[in-house]
Amino acid sequence: MTSEPAAVSVEEVGVDVVLPLRSAVLRDGGPAALPGDDDPATVHLAARTPDGRVVGVVRLAPAPCPWRPAREPWQLRGMATDPGVRGTGAGRALAAACLAVVAARGGDLLWCNARVTAAGFYEHMGFTVVTDAFDVDPIGPHVGMLAPVPGR
Ligand SMILES: CC(C)(COP(=O)(O)OP(=O)(O)OC[C@H]1O[C@@H](n2cnc3c(N)ncnc32)[C@H](O)[C@@H]1OP(=O)(O)O)[C@@H](O)C(=O)NCCC(=O)NCCS
Repeated sequence: MTSEPAAVSVEEVGVDVVLPLRSAVLRDGGPAALPGDDDPATVHLAARTPDGRVVGVVRLAPAPCPWRPAREPWQLRGMATDPGVRGTGAGRALAAACLAVVAARGGDLLWCNARVTAAGFYEHMGFTVVTDAFDVDPIGPHVGMLAPVPGR
């Protein structure tokens, strides 16, 4: 664990900005593009330190929720923070930005397939587990989670 400071700013970026960290953290350095990454409706967010370094990434896209009917559901995917800043608030800043972005675009529900190892993080961010664990090959066990979008 490092004591790197938490101050990050979150901004919308192009997919090219998020891919390196997504690959390093979530795909062991391998290919990390996801279907829909280039869709115009897809939103990529990056958390940067004051010196401009990308230390967190996430992606949002409109997608039907498998477990809960909603008017305008959005799916969160590809959430990753640099191991060197974990526990300092970068993930929280990204999750808060996700809810704000989805609310601003008229979404009323945010959902994700969460790695079981990250489910506690999402619970801290206001998500609820709504499924039993299921396997996503080759990554491992996941649970379905969802969060209400403030003001919707
Ligand atoms: C999950 C992940 C994004 C969290 O990012 P982070 O930068 O550590 O998050 P933060 O520092 O903002 O933590 C926010 C809160 O969640 C808690 N938290 C973080 N990870 C947690 C976990 N795995 N389980 C339980 N709680 C967790 C923190 O302790 C903190 O709590 P606090 O606000 O009460 O102090 C990061 O650990 C990560 O990239 N993991 C590997 C990739 C991954 O699993 N991504 C999710 C794929 S579904």
